[in-house]
Parts: sequence; C-alpha cells; structure tokens
Amino acid sequence: MLLRELTRLFGPSGEEGEVRRFVVEHAAPYADKIDVDNMGSVIAWKYAKENKENAKTVMIAAHMDEVGFIVQYVRDDGLIRYMTVGGIDPAVCVSKRVLVGQNRVPGVIGCKAVHLQERDERSRALKHSQLYIDIGAKSKEDALSKIAVGDYVIFDSDYVEFGRGLVKSRALDDRVGCAVLLELLRHDYPCNVAFAFDVQEEVGLRGALATAFRVRPDCALVLEGTTANDTTGARVHEEICTVGQGPTISFMDRASIANPALFERMRALAKEKSIPWQLKRGSAGGNDAGSIQRTAAGCATVAISVPCRYIHSPASVCALSDVENQYNLVKAFLDEGGNY
Ligand code: CO
Repeated sequence: MLLRELTRLFGPSGEEGEVRRFVVEHAAPYADKIDVDNMGSVIAWKYAKENKENAKTVMIAAHMDEVGFIVQYVRDDGLIRYMTVGGIDPAVCVSKRVLVGQNRVPGVIGCKAVHLQERDERSRALKHSQLYIDIGAKSKEDALSKIAVGDYVIFDSDYVEFGRGLVKSRALDDRVGCAVLLELLRHDYPCNVAFAFDVQEEVGLRGALATAFRVRPDCALVLEGTTANDTTGARVHEEICTVGQGPTISFMDRASIANPALFERMRALAKEKSIPWQLKRGSAGGNDAGSIQRTAAGCATVAISVPCRYIHSPASVCALSDVENQYNLVKAFLDEGGNY
C-alpha cells in the first residue's frame, strides 16, 4: 500500500493539489476513466466488464484533505497569527514543528514559556489566540519575503512504524482511506465502482456533496480514519473503538445514520470472511457519509473506519492490520457486486 508516500504529501482542506496529483498518477494505470471535478476531487471509475445492464454503481469514498492552519496575518515582529483549518486542539499544537506554504518554510508553534506564565495561566488550557507560528523572521518584511497571508500550514512530522504493527504519522485521517482506495483500484469488480477522493471533508464534508452528485451511486461506503480513545482509561463505551481490533462499522455518527440493510450486510460479510471488525461504540464526529447520503435523490451509506489514536495531531497512531482489514472488508463487498 502507498500509505507512507501518501502521508508525506501536503494537503490541508482547500489545498489538496499535491495529493490529487499523486492519486491521479497512481490511479491512471488501473482506472477506466478519471474525472477531476470543479472543486478538485478525483473520481476514478472502474466499470463492470460483464452483465453491464444490471451492474450497480457503488461509490467508495475517502478524503484527501487533512487538518492544518492558514496564515491569517503577520505581526510587526515577524510572528504569524493563524486560523485553524478543521478541528485541532490547541493542546496538541504547542512547540510542534510546522511547514508553511508550498515552499514548506519550516516553523514552530510558540507560546509564552512556562516560567513566565502566571499560576492560574498554567492551570488553564491555552487557546489558539495565545499561540503563533515562528519562522525565525526578524520582522514582518522578513517574514513576508518567505511566506504570504493565506498560505496553508501543515504539521511537520514523519511516518514511523513502531511497536507491534503500529504506525505514527500525521494525516492518517484520511490518507489510510486514500491508500486503500488506490489498492482496491487494481482489481476488477462485477459492479461499476466510482472511487471518490474527496476534498474539504475536514471543513464540513464539502467535496463529497459534489462527487456524490456526479456519481449518483446506488450505495456508498465511506472509508475513514476515526477517533480511538482506547488509551485514556475511559469506560468501554467511551473508548469509541480500539486500535488493532479491526475496522469499525458505524451505525451512526453526528452527520449520518447508516442504511440498516447495508450496515447488516457489512457485518455479515465480515463474519462470513472471518475479517476482524468492531462496532463503533459511540458517535463522535461526522464524515462524508453525511453529505453523500443526502445528495440528489439520496443514497444508502455506511462508514468503515480505521481506529486512530491522537487523531488530528502531528502524531496519530493506527494499526497496519486495521488498514489491511478495511481493505479486505471493502474488497469482499465489491467482489460480490455491491449487493446488500
Ligand atoms: Co477523516
């Protein structure tokens, strides 16, 4: 799989070009047709080779974008105020390395040192408005010779495999989905498959609205990275899901409710094929299923997600076996023609 390569790419919501070029290049040898829509999402089509009249059209969706920042303005002293792109906890930002703009100017997110904070400041969580990006500039002019207002910023962090089959990286949400889609594209299926690599999921499920409108699928599977809260001593139902126990199948989240028949089919398929899986024990966040299921005349959807610890941070963690089993489960569904 191409997960390592995909996590190296620069792709905050709205600036997915680098990921898009990679996806188009790697999909081209296998796709029957590739569309890039007006928002920048990629749809790679694989058509059923036989029984074309009765073949269903299944959409398999993942999002190319990741959370990040955008340069809001530059202070006279050369420090950068930023806005967040997608949901990022200020607590994961302090002292983190970042890359600013397409030239990837290195920087660090700074704040007042602990020694200088008042007693009550130390016990309160920092806000984004108290943080800034330091690119080592001497002045506003110096900073603006390297970067511009409106430049996107991403965390600077490496892909590292560690522990027993775990990986630590930025942007696992949702480059895991992109990696699985590119792998699934290598095969033929008895249904028409539209592999949608969507833009702007992290800022409100925007790109998928347009791709689903173009595809008009009979059903859609959304491949995601989702929050695993399995390390904080939370009660079982608050863990949401557990890393290493297989991809999650969601009954609902904050943006959509799974189609009951499709949900049931995915569970049965996992059992039939002995693919590890888990129910998502809670409904934190939403994903592109929320947009896809209400586009045009509506569509049956379900989300299949890889559990990720420390999601939306420079170092999220997932199990490679969960990515593998997300692939196995979705492939089994496509091999059967997308029936449910
Ligand atoms: Co996501």
